[in-house]
Amino acid sequence: MARKRTTYACTACGQTHPKWLGRCTACGEWGTVEEEAAPPAPPPGGGRAGLPVSKPLRLKEVEGGAPHRASTGIGELDRVLGGGLVPGALVLIGGDPGIGKSTLLLQASDRIARFDVPVLYVSGEESARQTRLRFDRIGAEAESLWLVAETSLSRIEHHVAKLEPRVLVIDSVQTLYTEDVGSAPGSVAQLRAITSRLMALAKGREIVTFVVGHVTKAGNLAGPRMLEHMVDTVLYLEGQRGHPFRLLRAVKNRFGNTDELGAFEMKSDGLAEVDNPSALFLAERAAGASGSVVAACFEGTRPLLVEVQALVTHEAHGTPRRTAIGFDGNRTALLLAVLERKAGLDVGGDVFVNVAGGMRLDEPAADLPVIAALASSHRDRPLDPKVAVFGEVGLGGEIRGVIGADARIVEARRLGFERIVLPAGNRDAARQLGEQGLVPVSTVEQALDVLF
Ligand code: TYD
Ligand code: MG
Repeated sequence: MARKRTTYACTACGQTHPKWLGRCTACGEWGTVEEEAAPPAPPPGGGRAGLPVSKPLRLKEVEGGAPHRASTGIGELDRVLGGGLVPGALVLIGGDPGIGKSTLLLQASDRIARFDVPVLYVSGEESARQTRLRFDRIGAEAESLWLVAETSLSRIEHHVAKLEPRVLVIDSVQTLYTEDVGSAPGSVAQLRAITSRLMALAKGREIVTFVVGHVTKAGNLAGPRMLEHMVDTVLYLEGQRGHPFRLLRAVKNRFGNTDELGAFEMKSDGLAEVDNPSALFLAERAAGASGSVVAACFEGTRPLLVEVQALVTHEAHGTPRRTAIGFDGNRTALLLAVLERKAGLDVGGDVFVNVAGGMRLDEPAADLPVIAALASSHRDRPLDPKVAVFGEVGLGGEIRGVIGADARIVEARRLGFERIVLPAGNRDAARQLGEQGLVPVSTVEQALDVLF
């Protein structure tokens, strides 16, 4: 019998090493290399168990066209998936514990099963009885919904072979184990082996497979990034504790757009879809307070109005603090420098920027709203509550045009905003919609003039 080799794997990037290291040479992280048992040798002949034998085809012979998609019965989930379920897709859903991953998948399983599609829900964390109670809470009643409490991958494969579900839910991947890897459930070696076998199962039988993955404190999926590389689609369910809003975001999608956003609200009977997220995000706005600005932003293909808040103190307590939540910290520093040099605002005190409702704004169009919020707080002068703002700010203090201006304008008007401050470069797009209430600006100075 071959001697059992021991290898070491980095829990951050998945790189394997022949010996233990304090620092992973591949990704540079400290203290992430852990011992794992070596994977079993591949079967002779090079084939991998479970995968169909491959055969090269001419490009023209390969079946083309968009994949056939089925609805999950939850519109917001369909949107984030790129238009629905693709047979054989392996979808990873990450998120903090308690954020609602299980709830979302319980609801999706029930809705899908109501279309008479067999669904198997595998719970590795709770007993079948506990899971049944959860299903009752969301009002699940579908006939073709199957439930099993199981953590052994080979037994799950056995159930799949017998039941032949079209949709499989694994909650969660960190609780599963496979006997042919020596290490504990949740270890790098286990996760790698399990994910590749689930992939083979999904592709071989064309089963849509949802896999729940827990997230560590640092916000990464527990276990290595490798998990994200292996699957077809990675969705994150996000939200802040104490807030009922939940955002579902695609960070990788082999079958559609990333950047898509689904909006939900956690209620006593599960997650409810939110048709009008802008109204939700603005519901608690303190209109008339200084430092608050409504930004007309974009999330995926959907315009979204969110409140940007800033608080600027005139004196720093020690070294000035620059804190940004939901907005890039470096970008905040850059915008402060532009404000100082181009608009003569002296911000020497502490600066806090916050995007309300637990949103993250990653797009350049949020620059001008942030600048406006900073200036409003610095001057302690509130903005007109009927104003919405968008535009990118350059280092020269110029305001640059952004994409999707027309959709932003339409959304802002729909929600009752009467004045919209926008880049002069977007004037053409705006003109077609009627110029009433539109205020094009080309410099930061000019923007602050019209806003205050
Ligand atoms: P859960 O789906 O268990 O989170 P995860 O799988 O991401 O760990 O959601 C847990 C939280 O959601 C829990 O605090 C209770 C709450 N919840 C509701 O508010 N309403 C519901 O209908 C359900 C099922 C859960
Ligand atoms: Mg759960």
